[in-house]
Amino acid sequence: MSDPRKLFVRTYGCQMNVYDSERMAAALAPEGYETVETPEDADLILLNTCHIREKAAEKVYSELGRLKPLREAKPDLKIGVAGCVAQAEGEEIRRRQPMVDFVVGPQTYHRLPKLVRDGGVDIDFPEEDKFDHLPKDKRAARAPAAFLTVQEGCDKLCAFCVVPYTRGAEVSRPAQRLVDEAKALADRGVREITLLGQNVNAYLGEGPDGDWTLARLVRELAKIEGLARIRYTTSHPNDMSEDLIAAHGEEPKLMPYLHLPVQSGSDRILKAMNRKHTRDEYFRLIERIRSARPDIAMSGDFIVGFPGETEADFEDTLDLCRQVRYAACYSFKYSPRPGTPAAGAADMVAPDVAQERLVRLQALLTEHQRDFQASMVGKRMDVLIEKAGREAGQMVGKSPWLQAVHLQADPSDVGRIVEVEITGAMPNSLAGRRVG
Ligand code: SAH
Ligand code: F3S
Repeated sequence: MSDPRKLFVRTYGCQMNVYDSERMAAALAPEGYETVETPEDADLILLNTCHIREKAAEKVYSELGRLKPLREAKPDLKIGVAGCVAQAEGEEIRRRQPMVDFVVGPQTYHRLPKLVRDGGVDIDFPEEDKFDHLPKDKRAARAPAAFLTVQEGCDKLCAFCVVPYTRGAEVSRPAQRLVDEAKALADRGVREITLLGQNVNAYLGEGPDGDWTLARLVRELAKIEGLARIRYTTSHPNDMSEDLIAAHGEEPKLMPYLHLPVQSGSDRILKAMNRKHTRDEYFRLIERIRSARPDIAMSGDFIVGFPGETEADFEDTLDLCRQVRYAACYSFKYSPRPGTPAAGAADMVAPDVAQERLVRLQALLTEHQRDFQASMVGKRMDVLIEKAGREAGQMVGKSPWLQAVHLQADPSDVGRIVEVEITGAMPNSLAGRRVG
């Protein structure tokens, strides 16, 4: 047998890219590729890229620049660009960086082995489901938490967003296949599954008895023994069905944490963003979710400096945050993306104004996050032990509310759910001790 070939994958962007990187590594395993931790050790380097904001896309070209000396020292080294920048830029990438051997979009990862051998550009949206052609990740020992992509693409067409163009229209994977995959994961020790989709709560997959909604899928997955926790992300407010809200109240395996981006607190801006709901509808939705599951924590995404945003609009956003009190949030300055409806807008907000608003918003969101963290001290909760911590004897687990929890435990506890009393709160993690 020949020596294993070495693959280095660098992943940018969202959790779906993390998942896709694992699948790409699995697709290349039959070709003799093993993954390595550093680009210097690799025979093949794959950049799995993100195009959501301008900065994310630029990172790819600077990374390619940094890889140039490596390639010059090692002419056999192959370099490929995957993901959403690949989808959006295609051939342009090889014009700017001729050393790139191949470019592959998110829908054609099953064709990777051929691309690695022959080079080229493949950014089709083929009819077939790439997941049918991608080998499953067969590694025996697994982390106790895993992702499962159930839906890809988005039809919502928010005026600022490239996802409908880079990931295409909404496509849901067949329900039975997802149940089978979740069972296989549970058989290998996975206790927590996060269902992924760009617009995951719009999931509508072909099932054995008609189409299944996300709520139905969650309820069926909850029947899998061994699987203890279910999460899903990312959701659009308009696709939070009655049924899904009810599942939050009825299904204990569905974790009390929901990422439900609103982007802005101003009705005028929401309309300009094509979000298709008002601020008030969002408030009422959250009320309904909280009455189904009172301990649910919310997280969100915000964009500041969307074209036309005034100080009054921005204050509406701050006010919305004060009313919702998010447990965690991501916030960004608006970044015009080529080809999106908002990109050509004349009424751009000045960069220093957008920057100043971002600082103010983040200060408020950080304050709320700290309050949420502090509210955990003294509480008892179930923690899923996931991995070793930095200090000896220390392990890191996850709370129902997606917080990292540091505690004294044994490496053999990985995969166990233990009762923990929270003794301390940091901005991004908790400390606790086992009880019971
Ligand atoms: N439903 C999607 C959300 C896509 S992008 C998913 O998670 O798969 C994630 C976040 O990036 C958005 O919610 C939005 O807040 C931000 N974002 C998207 N396009 C942007 C742009 N052009 N400028 C700034 N932020 C943007
Ligand atoms: Fe993007 Fe809006 Fe869809 S943010 S992913 S177009 S819901």
